[in-house]
Amino acid sequence: MRRAGTEADGGASNVCAVRIDDGVKREVLARADIGEVIGAYVTLRKRGNDLVGLCPFHGEKSPSFHVHPDRGFYKCFGCDAKGDVLTFVQKHENVGFQDALRILGKRYGVEIENEDPRTARVRSEKEAIYHANDVARAWFHRMLLDPREGAAARAYCANRGITDATIEAFSLGFAPDRWDGRGSLGEELRRNDVDLALAAKAGLLKPSQRGGFYDFYRDRLMIPTLATTGETIAFGGRALGDQEPKYINTTTTPVYTKGRYLFALNVARRAAAREDTAIVVEGYLDCIALHQAGFANAVAALGTAFTPEQARELRKVASRAILCFDADTAGIDAALKSIDVLTAEGVVAAALRIPDGKDPDEFVRRNGADAFRALLDKPIPATQVKIDAEIDRRGNRTESGAMARWAEETIRRIAPPEEQDRWRVYAAGRLGLSVDDLRKARLLFNPVHFAPRGGEANASRHIVPAAMELPSVEREVLCIVLDEPPLIAEYAERIPPQRFENVRLRRIWETLREHARSLVQPSDVRAVFAGDDDAAATLASVSGVVRLNDTEERRAQLDRVVVRFARDDAQRRYRELEERIDRLFEAGDPVPTDLRAEHAALAAELKG
Ligand code: UTP
Ligand code: MN
Repeated sequence: MRRAGTEADGGASNVCAVRIDDGVKREVLARADIGEVIGAYVTLRKRGNDLVGLCPFHGEKSPSFHVHPDRGFYKCFGCDAKGDVLTFVQKHENVGFQDALRILGKRYGVEIENEDPRTARVRSEKEAIYHANDVARAWFHRMLLDPREGAAARAYCANRGITDATIEAFSLGFAPDRWDGRGSLGEELRRNDVDLALAAKAGLLKPSQRGGFYDFYRDRLMIPTLATTGETIAFGGRALGDQEPKYINTTTTPVYTKGRYLFALNVARRAAAREDTAIVVEGYLDCIALHQAGFANAVAALGTAFTPEQARELRKVASRAILCFDADTAGIDAALKSIDVLTAEGVVAAALRIPDGKDPDEFVRRNGADAFRALLDKPIPATQVKIDAEIDRRGNRTESGAMARWAEETIRRIAPPEEQDRWRVYAAGRLGLSVDDLRKARLLFNPVHFAPRGGEANASRHIVPAAMELPSVEREVLCIVLDEPPLIAEYAERIPPQRFENVRLRRIWETLREHARSLVQPSDVRAVFAGDDDAAATLASVSGVVRLNDTEERRAQLDRVVVRFARDDAQRRYRELEERIDRLFEAGDPVPTDLRAEHAALAAELKG
């Protein structure tokens, strides 16, 4: 990320104390660097004197969020959000004015005194718990690194492929198998002047019958959860063997409520913002393993379905989420619930099914990062997850007319109107129905819609991000032209082979284009690939992925593909221009008017 050229430490070294009044506010506003503060949450690019990025307060695809560092305020031209650095922190962190002051004051060295006594008491208890948790985290970490104390836990980590760097990055630790007395956490806390009753409130110790306290976590690998602001708020402790329960966790404390936070969001925030996508997994160690494998935008929901609070946390950094779920019934149910929660909070959701019932941790360890990246490149759109679940639940047992009516009803319920056409094609394929069956069913529901629609042009306001598209465009194209080979010559120019990411499919398309003129019957195509078993197998695998009835339907479908390619081109060109213009701005050079004009035209086209 590029940022305005201000010093990162904001002068925190010379602390000054002020009372909460206009003076404090002035002092904070004077010291806090708005570009730096907002830049920690939103990827900002410098444009002239402004910083520009995607607005964190509403979903958008082209940046209309402007920060003016020299004037100390931000404004979104899309949703009209505006304010100063304090307003931003209040809104973004969901905190009140005083908390925003405190957060920024702490960061920029303005000490805040004289609150009303009640708030002060609550705050000081929270601060004390943060402190206790921090003492515990540091101690657990030291224990893990201690040659003698931590040997078994380090062996456990090594065995699971967790590296030393990962241990550092996640501040992993070890709670020794001791209840109290010498070498216990209780002793360590006491030595650090932590009140033990308070440590019990923090969930670190348990009160004993005899009026004392004993350690809550024993003989466990310790995984701390940190807030995005850096405080240690909770722990998970994993047994080193098959002991039950496998994990014990902080439940509810004054600083932590289960289901409200995302594990590793503090680490994943920047990468997630950069890619506008977060990977969501279930388990601590899944998340940690993904980070270690280079997926820096992974977070974990920790064993429960997604909550609205977690969705809002995620929405602050990214507008898309890719859920990794188990393909068993419980996993699918959890994914369906999470999708609903995320969608309701304005996050575009998609999902990954990890093959062979493995979790992401096992999958990357066994198959490597590239294999996982390949899964990530083709996530299943939320709508498909839902349609699949319905189809799987219903099975495939009814007579085709009834099945078509059921499918039509399901699609209307599940898919956004502008996407329904492609889901009809998809459902027809899965159910072994013809698009015609569905069309009849559709007529039954609503005769007005019987007239064929003119492409998807009027539906394109809802822009589906490229990575979330149905995975099979390339297969679709081949399937269609195999059914009607004369279409190869007709579309040879408009569908260049470079469009195919899958090399096998690309090779087939290249060959088909070379022979286009002589290909009339499906059997002509088979003849071209006679003797090439590999290609023949690939051809067999694409046959039937779309079922279309006549030339008109096939052309309509191919035209849609061509439109989409053009749009991809426009998007790529738009990004190129953005970067060129940024560089010119940065260098202080004038931006040629033709570049500006092309940029504006593309922006309009992409919004349209
Ligand atoms: P899993 O049982 O899928 O375990 O629980 P895992 O994450 O793969 O853990 P490993 O790989 O066996 O170590 C998923 C998540 O559910 C929560 C934890 O957050 C865990 O990461 N969980 C699970 C608990 O809180 N308690 C438990 O006893 C089990
Ligand atoms: Mn696991």
